[in-house]
Amino acid sequence: MATSKTEQLDQIRAEIIKNNVCPDLAEQATQLVFGDGSLDAEIVFIGEAPGKNEDIQGVPFVGAAGKFLDEMLASIKLKREDIYITNIVKYRPPNNRDPLPEEKAAFLPYLQKQLAVIKPKLVVTLGRHSMDVLLPQGLQISQVHGQPKRYQGQVYLPLFHPAAALYNGAMRTVLIDDSALIPAILKKI
Ligand code: URA
Repeated sequence: MATSKTEQLDQIRAEIIKNNVCPDLAEQATQLVFGDGSLDAEIVFIGEAPGKNEDIQGVPFVGAAGKFLDEMLASIKLKREDIYITNIVKYRPPNNRDPLPEEKAAFLPYLQKQLAVIKPKLVVTLGRHSMDVLLPQGLQISQVHGQPKRYQGQVYLPLFHPAAALYNGAMRTVLIDDSALIPAILKKI
């Protein structure tokens, strides 16, 4: 019998631990934050790395940035349960520092396997780090946010990171406006 998506994702999670990916990060983190949501989602959102709340709860985007992400989803009539969400780096970097290039590279094969199991129509990258890893074309997020890009057979939509909207009303509007493009983009794929 074919293995289920749940079993395949459990196996990828187990591989990260067995292969001792980023042991320095793993040592300082409370736990691995693997991903959350529907395994049959048409859209996968990919952030940067877990923060403090995510590290404690083991679930991506449960803190302040996650609350705004929920608003972005609600604005296009979606709920968390309709999408899948994960991060490039699966352990919290100490003091929420930016993930290092080697940390992003170390987790990329596992992220690619996760995407190969879920097979979304659209991958939404949240922030510069996620865009740079998944669309390595030297793009400037300020220039390409909200513009769908096809790369190696997958459609991506680069968005700013929802944390950028927390103290910036203009960015909030940009993120809500860019999110509003998602239903039409999905329809066209
Ligand atoms: N920011 C991220 O990039 N990911 C999370 O899971 C939380 C905040």
